[in-house]
Amino acid sequence: MPGLVSCLGDLIVTGIIILFSDHVQSEIWTNEVSDVQFGGLGSRVTLTCGGAHDGSPVEWRFNGSSVPPWQTHKGSLTLLNTTHSMEGNYSCHDERGTLLQSIKLRLGHLPHFVRVSCRVPNHMKIYYSWVQTKTTHLPTLYRTSYSVKGRDVEPCEQEHIGVNECTITNPPFWTSKILVNITEINPLGSNSTILQIDPHELLKPDPPEDVRVLQVEGQPTQLLVQWSWPSSWSVEIMAAFPLTFLLRYRPIGSNYWSMLETEENTSLKIMDALVGRLHQIQIRAQDALINHSQWSEWSHVVEAQPWIEPWKEPTEEPVDFSFPFFNSFPVRTTDKSPDSSLHQTGSLGLLILLGLFAAVMVAALLTIITLLWVRQRKQDNVKKQELASMVKMKSIPI
Ligand SMILES: *[C@@H]1O[C@H](CO)[C@@H](O)[C@H](O)[C@H]1NC(C)=O
Ligand SMILES: *[C@@H]1O[C@H](CO)[C@@H](O)[C@H](O)[C@H]1NC(C)=O
Ligand SMILES: *[C@@H]1O[C@H](CO)[C@@H](O)[C@H](O)[C@H]1NC(C)=O
Ligand SMILES: *[C@@H]1O[C@H](CO)[C@@H](O)[C@H](O)[C@H]1NC(C)=O
Ligand SMILES: *[C@@H]1O[C@H](CO)[C@@H](O)[C@H](O)[C@H]1NC(C)=O
Ligand SMILES: *[C@@H]1O[C@H](CO)[C@@H](O)[C@H](O)[C@H]1NC(C)=O
Ligand SMILES: *[C@@H]1O[C@H](CO)[C@@H](O)[C@H](O)[C@H]1NC(C)=O
Repeated sequence: MPGLVSCLGDLIVTGIIILFSDHVQSEIWTNEVSDVQFGGLGSRVTLTCGGAHDGSPVEWRFNGSSVPPWQTHKGSLTLLNTTHSMEGNYSCHDERGTLLQSIKLRLGHLPHFVRVSCRVPNHMKIYYSWVQTKTTHLPTLYRTSYSVKGRDVEPCEQEHIGVNECTITNPPFWTSKILVNITEINPLGSNSTILQIDPHELLKPDPPEDVRVLQVEGQPTQLLVQWSWPSSWSVEIMAAFPLTFLLRYRPIGSNYWSMLETEENTSLKIMDALVGRLHQIQIRAQDALINHSQWSEWSHVVEAQPWIEPWKEPTEEPVDFSFPFFNSFPVRTTDKSPDSSLHQTGSLGLLILLGLFAAVMVAALLTIITLLWVRQRKQDNVKKQELASMVKMKSIPI
């Protein structure tokens, strides 16, 4: 069973064989057919024919077939070194074949010690459970009791027959020694397993429950951890027996846990979490007064990340015409800002700008062309004048 602490108690007494008379047997195993006989495996078993008259010969049959007569003696059938194959229906008959008695034979082993586990989740209950250390093949029941020095033997209550568990309610917690007697009984005998336990040492609370980890607004290195007391540590117990809690945490990927301890409080603040990292958090509990009691198991791992500063959207300003090429292209293309008018203003500005630019370029081009044309005209004029003067010179009579 998971979560059970093996009882560290000392095994003190070995069992005492009790061989039951037929009377006791029928009292305990009333659910069995009345003519069932139990025997030990590997031993010698004798079956007696109940209805036989003294001295008269009887015939034994096993599962309907005759048994060789050398095995019978004065009306009894003796089986040596029994094995499982000898289990079944035996019947004895008189000379005329009339059935005198039928016996069902079942074979098995004497009880052995049991292996006991126990659980002490609070001051009010001690739970025991056990398993057989040897299969006996026989119907079995258990008597369970406990005792404290100087006090009467009290039963350890078994709630369900057939489930190997018993519970001590309100155990005497002031003592450090409780003797528990778990006696396994079957038709062949009994064997008592006796353990001495120290309830203080075995006290092990269930882990804290309902662990929650919260971010602390504006604090990227803090985590607020809250939890509840184990539900098995009831309110009455809580008042008298406080618990100490140990919290451990680490960023995922780290091998090292950091620890924080608190008495009674069910919340703690981690102050040195790593910014932006996912952390694992666990808590366990221990009785605050009995310092040699045990820590609970760790609670389930809870993962959480400290608060991080939300991503700030860059605020978009209306286009500034004094720096046309730096401002006109929006930085974020995936922007889902509802303020789309800003965007439209931006595009319009861009268009106007491009228009202006084009106009300036055209103007510059026209100016250059005009200048070139003017210059060409001037040169042409000079050439004409030169030609004219040469003609004039030729025509001047010498
Ligand atoms: C053994 O006896 C029981 C009742 O006495 C009967 O129900 C069962 O069939 C018998 N088994 C054999 C193998 O004869
Ligand atoms: C009983 O049977 C077992 C195996 O079937 C055998 O090893 C053993 O020697 C037998 N004992 C006797 C006393 O016959
Ligand atoms: C005799 O009958 C029982 C059931 O009653 C059965 O389990 C057993 O195997 C039978 N044995 C033989 C040798 O037939
Ligand atoms: C009880 O069981 C143990 C083994 O588990 C065995 O050594 C011991 O002899 C048994 N006692 C009795 C009385 O059968
Ligand atoms: C253990 O319990 C059994 C059955 O109740 C009893 O017979 C036996 O004496 C007890 N043993 C001790 C040591 O108390
Ligand atoms: C525990 O809780 C008390 C009151 O609720 C508070 O005063 C105290 O500071 C807390 N201690 C810790 C370690 O949180
Ligand atoms: C429990 O604590 C007390 C005081 O703190 C100490 O004297 C004692 O030895 C401790 N006991 C155990 C078993 O640790």
